[in-house]
Amino acid sequence: MNYQQMTNKELKEELKKRKLKGYSSLKKTQLIEYLSTGIHPLKKALIPPKMAESETRDSSSGSIGYSPTILAATEELPINQIISGDCIKIMRSFPDGVFDCCITDPPFNMSRKKGLGWAFSSHVTMQEQWDIFAQDDYFQFTVDWITEVLRLLKTNGNFFVFGSFHCIFTIGFILQSLFNRRIISQIVWYKPNAQPNITCRMFTESTEFIIWAVNNESKKAKNWTFNYEVMKSMNNDKQMRNMWEIPLTKPSERKYGKHPSQKPLAVINRLILAGTNEGDLILDPFSGTGTTAVVAEQHKRKWIMIEKEDEYNRIAQKRVDEQFGKLFEDDSENNW
Ligand SMILES: C[S@@+](CC[C@H](N)C(=O)[O-])C[C@H]1O[C@@H](n2cnc3c(N)ncnc32)[C@H](O)[C@@H]1O
Repeated sequence: MNYQQMTNKELKEELKKRKLKGYSSLKKTQLIEYLSTGIHPLKKALIPPKMAESETRDSSSGSIGYSPTILAATEELPINQIISGDCIKIMRSFPDGVFDCCITDPPFNMSRKKGLGWAFSSHVTMQEQWDIFAQDDYFQFTVDWITEVLRLLKTNGNFFVFGSFHCIFTIGFILQSLFNRRIISQIVWYKPNAQPNITCRMFTESTEFIIWAVNNESKKAKNWTFNYEVMKSMNNDKQMRNMWEIPLTKPSERKYGKHPSQKPLAVINRLILAGTNEGDLILDPFSGTGTTAVVAEQHKRKWIMIEKEDEYNRIAQKRVDEQFGKLFEDDSENNW
């Protein structure tokens, strides 16, 4: 077969026939390479080389991409690794339909170039560069990363995305109206110890929202994971409601360094226990300090984190390493 003479459409049809996945955004040369070798062309460039056993145990090097491999199940994907870089570019190199769940806390576009400070307290409003977009750019950025997440999630896979009033309507519109995905619920995270409002011109902001969507057309969505009994048992044997009162991230969870919007382990804990099962593969494309990975490790889920700031990745890696150490200690009685 002469691939050079074939159109992109024909090349893709050929890939589909051979049950090869993840070709939708590839260029012609890459499609041809994929057909010729059977290996996804971007995967070769992205996947970090395998670490020697000694390296996988050495957390002192501080290198990003080091991974505790105890839960790794597939060879192709960088399972249980933190990938440093732009999540849209990195996600584009992953094959379709490989993740069971995505839990993520994207930029909210709530920062101002100059944040507000308060003389009587350490409270300041956000002024992070990674959180500042022009309105149209934010919309396009959100469409782009959600497009990739939906491609990577399995059909009927769970998608939990955080937001505040600054962005939740945009995210909800994109999921519901642009992509016609089924929205199962909106969880309200109520922060009883939220910081006071500096301006006194409005209510004190003390909630965030989590949209729970399922990766299927609204009418077709079915069989999504929801561990009803687990949630009930965590709530004094009463049905778990969608309003969660959980305080802000504890100082003890910030011991390896600070991030302005690190999520409490307790919030992510509920999401992972509710929406995933042991062995599931979870994606967080805006991983920050790796809170999703820490909880995933705790509950024997697999994970892939993506984050563009190396400083946050260093914190995340230390948190994951600590968790890995704990798992190792906990299992010591099993005579490994
Ligand atoms: C709201 S924070 C996530 C915090 C995280 N949930 C935690 O508990 O630490 C969003 C993160 O997305 C990162 N980020 C922003 N744009 C990104 C991009 N295009 N690719 C990868 N990471 C990005 C930021 O650096 C920031 O750490």
